[in-house]
Amino acid sequence: MTEVQLDPETLRAIIARELTGARQRTALLTDSVEEADLVRQHSPLMSPLVWDLAHIANQEELWLLREVGGREPMHPEIDPLYDAFEHPRSERPTLPLLPPAEARAYGHEVRGRVLDLLDRAPFSGTRLLGDGFAFGMIAQHEVQHDETMLITHQIRAGAPVLAARAPDPAPADAFRLPSEVLVPGGPFTMGTSTEPWALDNERPAHTVQVAPFYLDTTPVTCGSYAQFIDDGGYDDPRWWIAAGWEHRQSAGLTAPLYWRSEGPQWTRRVFGRQEPIVPNEPVLHVSWYEADAYARWAGRRLPTEAEWEKAARFDPATGLTRRYPWGNADPDTSHANLGQAFLRPAPAGSYPAGAAPCGARQLIGDVWEWTSSDFSPYPGFEAWPYKEYSEVFFGPECKVMRGGSFAVSPVVSRGTFRNWDYPIRRQIFAGFRTARSAVAETALCAATWPTSGRPPRCARCSSTRRTACTGRPGRRAGSDTGR
Ligand SMILES: [Fe+2]
Repeated sequence: MTEVQLDPETLRAIIARELTGARQRTALLTDSVEEADLVRQHSPLMSPLVWDLAHIANQEELWLLREVGGREPMHPEIDPLYDAFEHPRSERPTLPLLPPAEARAYGHEVRGRVLDLLDRAPFSGTRLLGDGFAFGMIAQHEVQHDETMLITHQIRAGAPVLAARAPDPAPADAFRLPSEVLVPGGPFTMGTSTEPWALDNERPAHTVQVAPFYLDTTPVTCGSYAQFIDDGGYDDPRWWIAAGWEHRQSAGLTAPLYWRSEGPQWTRRVFGRQEPIVPNEPVLHVSWYEADAYARWAGRRLPTEAEWEKAARFDPATGLTRRYPWGNADPDTSHANLGQAFLRPAPAGSYPAGAAPCGARQLIGDVWEWTSSDFSPYPGFEAWPYKEYSEVFFGPECKVMRGGSFAVSPVVSRGTFRNWDYPIRRQIFAGFRTARSAVAETALCAATWPTSGRPPRCARCSSTRRTACTGRPGRRAGSDTGR
């Protein structure tokens, strides 16, 4: 989608393409498993896949056929079954859900009527119709459920049913990248008032002051995360906030979800296949608590949401805020790992064409990135078109993730898009990168820090961490956090 005003026929074609693309992925994710796997609940954290299937259709009927088209409900008796706020995920398998064949038929019938409606839609007259917003919202809703269903596939036990080729190896320069990039301080425009399909929590555009800071050039890799584990990171309460330490103990966390220690080797399960971890691949399936603990161990911190967005969108050369790190053009396969083209993140340092002006790579795609920020409204926020999309989740319980994962479609991978979840969640496709304030730049450890492999030691303090230099040999940088 573009910020440029489109003629109705071009907009109609874009909407049809997005709706059709989303449905192709939905079909693949639900046709690839046996009927028993569609109706089974694979985890209390997730819905049965057949619930997602009919819920997608029900939301499409509700917003497009009824709200936009003014049609009567097709099956009003099933509305409560597919209302996400009426039944938590854990309850959904006990509901009298439509069986798979009926759920598919319902989705097919709704989609046929929606495409008829789209043929005649004027894209004006109401706020929902303007710029095709309601159609765009429904396309985004379906691809978000495609990510949710892929999470269910990852949880599902049994023989693999999904396959995709591996991403390309890291480009030659990936091993020469600086470990961190400087993002200049000053104001930038955060959020948007012009992106036509932006959801309510991304609005409105507003000016935010950000102090200068350093950000990891790439997301934290499995290899770096393994060093945190090997260094006893899960056994040292200094690195964990109190709630995180309590959760780490009660949940028995010792490594990212799906990781298994086999002698000196870490392996992990990826869509039904057990494999050695890939050291230069961004780490996945860590909770916010784990990401925060890693950052403290490294003598760093998670970036704030505003820092993340400034790194991703601000162009110091023009002073303008871009739609994406690489500019204003919609993502293509040279920019980012999106849309389930691969079933895993690409190696750290991939996608040089998608780099931000600050030099950071892979801000869009690969892994959702935890930020330190609570999910809260922007100044001037207005709930629209319904309060349950964002407003009911605002508050300190949820942390913001940015940037999208390999599992989300480009239609929801805007630089302004905000995701959120509880800090204990690990089944989502989330990783992170770390940051540090730039005020103490002169005290940075005197070494060149590689993005992978064994780090060297600082000549002054012997730290092997990328951190503020303590200047005292033998004293571990980062141990002064009081944790
Ligand atoms: Fe939904």
